[in-house]
Amino acid sequence: MDLPSLRKKPTYAVLLSALQALEVKPNSWNKSTAAESSLVSDEAVVQRFLMSIIASDLEWIPESTDIGGEFLTALEQKELLVDLASRRVAERCGRSAMPEMTRTWVIPASSNLPEIKFDIREPPLTGDNLGLKTWGTSYVIAKKLENFGIQYLDHFFTKSIVSRSGTSKRSLQSGAKVLELGAGTGLVGIAAGAVWGAEVFLTDLLDIADNLLFNVEKNAPTVGEFGGHISCGVLDWREPNQALEIVPVKKFSILLAADPLYDDDHPALLANVVEKFLQDDEGSRALIAIPIRDNATRALSEKLSNLMAENGFLVDCSGEEICQDDWEASNGPEVKLLWTFWKRTIISKSTTEN
Ligand SMILES: C[S@@+](CC[C@H](N)C(=O)[O-])C[C@H]1O[C@@H](n2cnc3c(N)ncnc32)[C@H](O)[C@@H]1O
Repeated sequence: MDLPSLRKKPTYAVLLSALQALEVKPNSWNKSTAAESSLVSDEAVVQRFLMSIIASDLEWIPESTDIGGEFLTALEQKELLVDLASRRVAERCGRSAMPEMTRTWVIPASSNLPEIKFDIREPPLTGDNLGLKTWGTSYVIAKKLENFGIQYLDHFFTKSIVSRSGTSKRSLQSGAKVLELGAGTGLVGIAAGAVWGAEVFLTDLLDIADNLLFNVEKNAPTVGEFGGHISCGVLDWREPNQALEIVPVKKFSILLAADPLYDDDHPALLANVVEKFLQDDEGSRALIAIPIRDNATRALSEKLSNLMAENGFLVDCSGEEICQDDWEASNGPEVKLLWTFWKRTIISKSTTEN
């Protein structure tokens, strides 16, 4: 695609269409549309074009233009173009420069379920609030949940319920509750609610809680259509006892944690929280998914595995996927994603006697 030259005084419509074509769409959003963002291969040319629009007074734009029956003043046209150019620059600067946005995540239809869409809000990233972004791991895991339910959690499912389409659907037994740790924007827990027809409690740090609540409320009707229920609250791994007052049950049958390790203290904190909140029985499972971005995350992952083993947990099953984060300088590298279902080996005496 050739970008219009400002020297030739292009019209509002020409500039608008060029700016729309330059949108950078994230990888995990939709692979096929990501390719559209590379219409112009030389990013330096794109950056110059965008900055020239922002810097120009676009004085050739007429006082009033009819845009599909709507009249825009010259000022309105210039503001729209400069806003869009600024957004395109922000997209190219990395996710942290992006304004708030809502992204639609699609779980493709299967033989048992229709396509399910979730709208997930991401505020602008501030500081190190990583939970305000939806990470590649969570989308990979969300798409695998149905299969995980059939293969590794079958003992928790009732045979079927009637879904909105009138077809039968597997559903998690009402007694089997799900807890998500470090839910971030909530994609995995919300998807589990719908795909498994499950009651899910999503948790994260206090700073992340408002946005998580927004996404839970926004997607609760969709989850409800599939027989599930979602709610959320604060569970800081450093102070797990404080969460005891707000969690719906003290022990959960299934724990979920996607991309939870990035600090040295995370493996010990997470292993402790899993020990505290996972039901004391043979059937309960903790699904932990870790993207191995570098040697540091590999070391954190190994540390977690050792601590889980020390706490009396065993790998029930595990596997690998490929995931990719977006909004890095030019889309993040593909990384290996390790997922593991942990189960207890030592069941406490009080539980076995009950
Ligand atoms: C890389 S993000 C992953 C978020 C989400 N699971 C996803 O995959 O999109 C790590 C998450 O762990 C959360 N987290 C970090 N430390 C935590 C702690 N002490 N207690 C609870 N959550 C924590 C962060 O707030 C963040 O939401």
